[in-house]
Amino acid sequence: MEITPPPCLNKPLKFPNKLLMGPGPSNCSPRVLHALSLPILGHMHTETFQIMDEIKEGIKYIFQTKNELTLAISAAGHGGMEAVLCNLVEPGDKVLVAVNGLWGMRAIRMAENYGAVVSQIATSLGNNYSLGQLETAILSEKPDLLFVVQGESSTGVYQPLESLGKICHKYNCLLAVDTVASLGAVPFFMDKWEVDAVYTGSQKVLSAPPGITPISFSKRAQTKIFQRKSRPSVYYFDMNVVGEQWGCVGTVRTYHHTVSSSLLCGLREALAIICEEGIENSMKRHKECTMRLHDGLKRLGLEFFVGDPEARLPTVTSIKIPEGVDWKKITTTAMNTYNLEIGGGLGPTAGLIGRVGIMGYNAQPENIDFLLSVLQKLLKDKCKL
Ligand code: GLV
Repeated sequence: MEITPPPCLNKPLKFPNKLLMGPGPSNCSPRVLHALSLPILGHMHTETFQIMDEIKEGIKYIFQTKNELTLAISAAGHGGMEAVLCNLVEPGDKVLVAVNGLWGMRAIRMAENYGAVVSQIATSLGNNYSLGQLETAILSEKPDLLFVVQGESSTGVYQPLESLGKICHKYNCLLAVDTVASLGAVPFFMDKWEVDAVYTGSQKVLSAPPGITPISFSKRAQTKIFQRKSRPSVYYFDMNVVGEQWGCVGTVRTYHHTVSSSLLCGLREALAIICEEGIENSMKRHKECTMRLHDGLKRLGLEFFVGDPEARLPTVTSIKIPEGVDWKKITTTAMNTYNLEIGGGLGPTAGLIGRVGIMGYNAQPENIDFLLSVLQKLLKDKCKL
């Protein structure tokens, strides 16, 4: 052989156990890790279909929906954005994006890739939109689809959504929502709020591994997808065919792609855990931990990037980098010395903020206290510019 086996693969796979308190992923619980280690199943096995059916029920619970086109796609949360836009946008459609950070900016780029005529509303970083602002933009832009991010992890902004679906439908516009970083920690009612398309991250509040993304489409959205003039341009995300494999569309489960049974098992167990706890209790736990974190950050003299307390996302807290502090040094020292992940800014907030994530299995008071004690040490001792 000209190319010999690389020596780097001749060593055991080993890394420390880290506490992931950045903007995601969060740590998986031992129960989810066990589910991930179960034997591999074939993607057309009876047990696999049973697990997929249980996952669909769990996703309907977390999104609070009865939508039949509810499933999990084989992709990271970001793939959820791709799947929603790829299915709901036809060339020439008008898409309005409410930008409040990186994810809205990404949605613009993707919608353009699918041939949409895109307009955007922009607010200064760290703020959300009032319903009035969104309605005014819908009235002036007359979009076919409004795209909103409920939890902008790049800025730590929470966008309230109640009544927005009704407003969109008054103007014949569909509503798509990204709940990757928010679901399970803040209220979300897909049917009651008339949301047409939603996806969330498996790796955030659900504390499952990344790579498998819950997604759901309303009847209105389903009609749009099934009556498209052109097929969605990415076969991998085409809900007509993915929906068949998941038993949401048609009567026969048809092969589309080889779904990872390990990821299915991990997600199934993570959904079982949130169903046992109940979303209300999960929200309460996240709120209590966030308050504990925020009190601690104030005691350390740190300031929040999001000024309005109501607009602060409970899952991702964004912190202004204090003058004279080297945040990069904070994050690398926290990782190298304490195996603790703390985040920096992302996209438009890079270099401006630090980010702390409180999500899912990690939302426990002892983790907050540990993180605050590490931050206190690093701010005091070493991490000056
Ligand atoms: C990822 O979701 C991030 O916000 O860094």
